[in-house]
Order: sequence, then structure tokens, then C-alpha cells
Amino acid sequence: MSQEPVYAPNSDFVAKAHVSGMDAYRALWERAKDHPEDFWGEIAEKEIHWFEKWSHVFEWNPPFVKWFVGGKTNMSYNCLDRHLAENANKVAFHWEGEPGDTRTVTYADLHRMVCRFANVLKARGFKTGDRAIIYMPMIVELPVAMLACARLGITHSVVFGGFSAEALKARVQDLGAAVVITADGGWRRAKEVKLKGAVDEGIVDCPSVKEVLVFQRTGSAIDMVAGRDFFVRVDESQRLAEGGIDGTLAGDECPAVELDSEHPLYVLYTSGTTGKPKGILHTTGGYLTYVTMTMKWVFDIKPDDVYWCSADIGWVTGHSYIVYGPLSAGATSIMYEGAPDTPDFGRWWSIVAKYKASILYTSPTAIRALIRQGDQWPNSHDLSSLRLLGSVGEPINPAAWEWYHRVIGKERCPIVDTWWQTETGGIMIAPMPGAVPTKPGSGTLPMPGIIPEIIDLSGNPVGDDREGFLVIRRPWPSMLRTIWGDPDRYADQYWGKVQGVYFTGDAARRDKDGYFWILGRVDDVMNVSGHRLSTMEIESALVKHPAVAEAAVVGKPHEITGQAVCCFVTLKKGDYDHHELGIELRKWVAHEIGPFARPEEIRFSEALPKTRSGKIMRRLLREIVTSHTVSGDVTTLEDMNVVTRLASQHDED
Ligand code: WT7
Repeated sequence: MSQEPVYAPNSDFVAKAHVSGMDAYRALWERAKDHPEDFWGEIAEKEIHWFEKWSHVFEWNPPFVKWFVGGKTNMSYNCLDRHLAENANKVAFHWEGEPGDTRTVTYADLHRMVCRFANVLKARGFKTGDRAIIYMPMIVELPVAMLACARLGITHSVVFGGFSAEALKARVQDLGAAVVITADGGWRRAKEVKLKGAVDEGIVDCPSVKEVLVFQRTGSAIDMVAGRDFFVRVDESQRLAEGGIDGTLAGDECPAVELDSEHPLYVLYTSGTTGKPKGILHTTGGYLTYVTMTMKWVFDIKPDDVYWCSADIGWVTGHSYIVYGPLSAGATSIMYEGAPDTPDFGRWWSIVAKYKASILYTSPTAIRALIRQGDQWPNSHDLSSLRLLGSVGEPINPAAWEWYHRVIGKERCPIVDTWWQTETGGIMIAPMPGAVPTKPGSGTLPMPGIIPEIIDLSGNPVGDDREGFLVIRRPWPSMLRTIWGDPDRYADQYWGKVQGVYFTGDAARRDKDGYFWILGRVDDVMNVSGHRLSTMEIESALVKHPAVAEAAVVGKPHEITGQAVCCFVTLKKGDYDHHELGIELRKWVAHEIGPFARPEEIRFSEALPKTRSGKIMRRLLREIVTSHTVSGDVTTLEDMNVVTRLASQHDED
């Protein structure tokens, strides 16, 4: 028996939930396992609008899968048009800008804006099968751009606004994007994040890009390249006409293209174990079905909820649970542009109170940062509208969980700790809040249709309470379909580590109650503030600097952000001021990848610990930054003195 505290959902919540009680959950899970075709077929038919029904539910040719084969649908239609008959005037987004400006956007408004922008894209010659890069702040035009692309079958790739021009360029080139959709800038901590400037710098050497379409948010001065860059607007005072020049306005109606269920909806780049980010491809029908259903299973979404996911749309959380899931489910959401501490640490709680948020979905890093500021901030706002809380992105430590439960949820709101990945498209392991009792720190049980297991590297299950590799046994509807342009890497990375199962890259254990506990990554991927960063990507950035000979990067435990980036660097010959160079290298990484990847620490060393075959032993470096000592097998180490010096360096700091 486990000793962890267990929190059962209260009877009022259970009574009203979409899924009530453990028996109901278990029945769903068992049915999905035993009869996946019937199970998913019924859900897709009930929850989704299809222009043409599929011929079969899925087709599995490992490692490639198709869902709802032969079906015709459209994401944008499901998120907008189908709600208009009954919910045209329902609020889709309560939007709040960081400076305090607000917008209320109904489903009818959103539909009109999306149609206008789709008409602009169409009139400018962009069409089904083209690719668009979207690099925008958290303004309503960001979901508008995504939905307009989806409406026409233009595959989009949203690049988080915190990525640099360099990172943007790599994505534009890999995707072969025909159009870049951006804005002048956005507000973050009262400063402007200049996006258009980064686009100008990023798209040199990108011959695929024909046009740059620019929304205005900050109104600051930007350069516009004649014949390439065009201003666009989709609100009431829209400026750009369909053709962009003749002064007539883009039409308010644009039919959604009937797309194949497997039409590529979007590519989202994420860090892998090499220096090159992976373009994770999600397609239409299966993804749509899964994100819609998990809105009900995990968030228990109801017509009168006011739902707030605080993520940035540039990450998968925002794709699935700010844009596609909530809109397909017809929900009312809050969307906030800026930082939680602007103008002060009460900002989030004032937003909860102002819009009467009933569901809040955020990250452990944000929770820990808010804990540090003290309870007076949440306590001075009315949080009584909240009924459900969520966590995502990284393991939540029990202390943060308890605070969230007590101070924010007032011991009344269930907490759903949701484990999933960019690759999984939707939530995989999480409690159904009206059914599954929670334990702080555990994602609890899998969703129906998800069959996780914990195994060793030979593929054998490890047994209760043993640490092992978390894998998924069968394909699910929102599973990534491939890595854009690199099916071999897809097959190898996800299905080739242990034959026949999806390899998550996470370590985990399962307790005697069947609850899953995620322990963190087993590969060279770090998790900083719930953002995925590759050690190799940062190392490649560092060795591009003229002073750097070698670099090794590891995640170091951090009280607030979970992990922090710690870099070990050896230098080329020369005279360097370590302090100055440390500052410069931190800036350098921010420039190469983005400010969110800025290292916390740069340590200079004469050498790095290597095996006799010349491989850097990151495991030792991880131990050095975690415990300042080294244990385990070091027999393959070339020079033990290197390690001793590195380990003692900390004490001299
Ligand atoms: C990695 C995926 C899922 C959207 C945001 C991150 C870690 C994610 C949890 C959780 C423990 C978690 C895993 C995973 N992770 N959620 N609830 N508990 N760890 O998406 O950038 O693709 O990162 O984040 O290590 O593999 P991502």
C-alpha cells in the first residue's frame, strides 16, 4: 500500500462530471482497450463533423498510422462553423493584453475574422498543401492565423515568440514555408518583443518565402520590404483587401476546404537529442477527435465554464488546449498576452476574478514562482469561481501541488496533473477529475485508448514501484505521424529503441495502485520551466562562438524552473576574462536559440571528462551539478583528474 496522501473528488463534483466514479473510468478504459475501433469510431461520429465518413477507424502499418481513413473533415469548420447555429454569440475568447487593453471575441466574430484572413491568404495565391510559419505574440490574430490556415489546408508551424531569428530561419527552411505570418511585436514585462525585426533577419536565405503578412500589435516602427511585406487586419477596421492593394475588403465568408482526415494540420518543432530540432507532424481527423474528447475527460468542460490555459500558443499545450481543443468543444476561454508578474504578482488572480475563471491550467514552474511571492497575492482576489485546476509540462513536486490545492483551489478543486508531449498531441496520463482520486506528484492513470507500460531496455515490464522507461503500446488518434521530411528519424527515435512500442524518452514508475509517476527524461533533453531544450542544441550554439573549443551542457536542479541550463566550456588558446566571457556566452545562446534558453551558468574548464573513445561523459557532469560528487562506474573515464577538478570548482565559486 502506498503512504502518499490521496485526494478523492468531492461528491458534488462527481455528481456533475462527464465521467463519474472509478467504475465509469475503468469501463471506458477497458472498452477502448478491447474494442478500439468501436470505441473511437463512436466518439468520432458523435463529437466531430465529417463532410464524408471514414471507411475504417485506423490503419496501423508500424510505425505509421492513419486514423479515420478516407474521412473528410476540416479543423476550422469544427472549431467555428458548427457552433454558429446555437452559439454564435457565445464568447470564444476573453482576451487581455498585458498593458490592460481587452477584447471580447464571440464565435461569430472569430469565424468572421478567420474567413477574412483565409480570403486574404487565398487571394494572394496560398493554397492547400502550402506551408506557413506563424511567429506572433499572444493576440487573437494568432489563433485566427492558425484557423485560417487550417481552413484552407495550409500546414502551419507556429514558432514561439521567444525563439531567435536564427531558430526561426532553421524552421522556415526545414518547412519550406511559402508565407510568414507575424506582427510588429508583442508585450512582455512591459517591454516590446520585436518580432518583425527577427523575421527580417531570419528569412534571408529563405527563397521559399514569397510574402510576409504583418499584423499590428504594438504600433512600433518596422521596416517593410516592398513587394514582400504586407500589413493585414481582420478586425472591424481591417485595412488590407483580399488582393492587398485595391481597397476592397476581404469577404466575411470563406468555405472550409473538405480535407482528408490525414491532411497535415501542423508541424511543431521540438528539441531532440541532436542539434537539429524535430518537426513533429500532426494531422487532422485523429488529432481533432482526441483533443476534443480530452477536453471533456480531463477538463470536464461544460457549456458555462470559463477556461484558462496560461501557456503560450507557441508550445503544444497552447495548440491543443488553447486553440483546437477548447474551440472544437465550443468552450469560452481566457487568453492573456503577457507575464504573470506584470504589473505585479496579483495579475493572474485578478484575471481569474475578473472573468470568473472556472478552470485554470498552468505549469509547476509558474506555481513555484507564485508561491515564492507569498499568499497575500492570491488571497486578495476572489477565486471562488474556480472548480478545477490543471498542471502540465514537468513533474509537480508535492509541496507545490499542496499549495495549489490549498491556496488556489481552497481544498475544493480537483487537480489534474497531465502528462503528455508535443509528439502525443494530447493528454495521455491524467486523472479524470470526477472519477480518479489524486496523489500529489502523480499523473495517475492513462486515458482510454492509451496503454502505457514501464519496461527495461530489453522490453520487459519492470514490475510495481520499479523505475524504467515509459512506453506506449498502441497508436492513438493524436499521435505524431512522422518527423517532417525525416521518416527514418521518426521510425528510429520513437519506434526503434524497443521494437514495436512508442518510446517516450521519460523514466517513470508505476505504483501498486497502477498510478504513474514521471521521473524525468532519460535522454539529452532538459526541461526548463516546462520548456524542452536539447543539450546538443545549446552545445552546437556554444561551439559556434570563436572562443569556445568544446562544450557540454547539462540540466541542473533549480528550485523554480525545475532545471536550469548549466554549461561546461573549454576555450581555444587566448587570454579571456572568464567573467566577461561568461556574460557574452549567455547572450550568445540567447541570440542563437532564444532568450528562454539563456544558460543559468557557464563553467570554464581545462578539459571535459571523456571516455577513452572520446565521448563526453555527461552523466558525470550531471552528478557534479546535482551532488558535487561522482559515483558509479568511472572505469571508462580517460582522466579522473578532470572530474576531481570540476567537482571541486563549485566550492571555489
Ligand atoms: C516532456 C514533454 C505536454 C506539453 C508541454 C511539454 C515532461 C510534461 C509532464 C507532467 C511530468 C511532464 C516530460 C515529457 N512532462 N508533462 N505532467 N509530469 N513530466 O511538452 O515540450 O513536448 O515536453 O515534458 O518529460 O516527455 P514537451
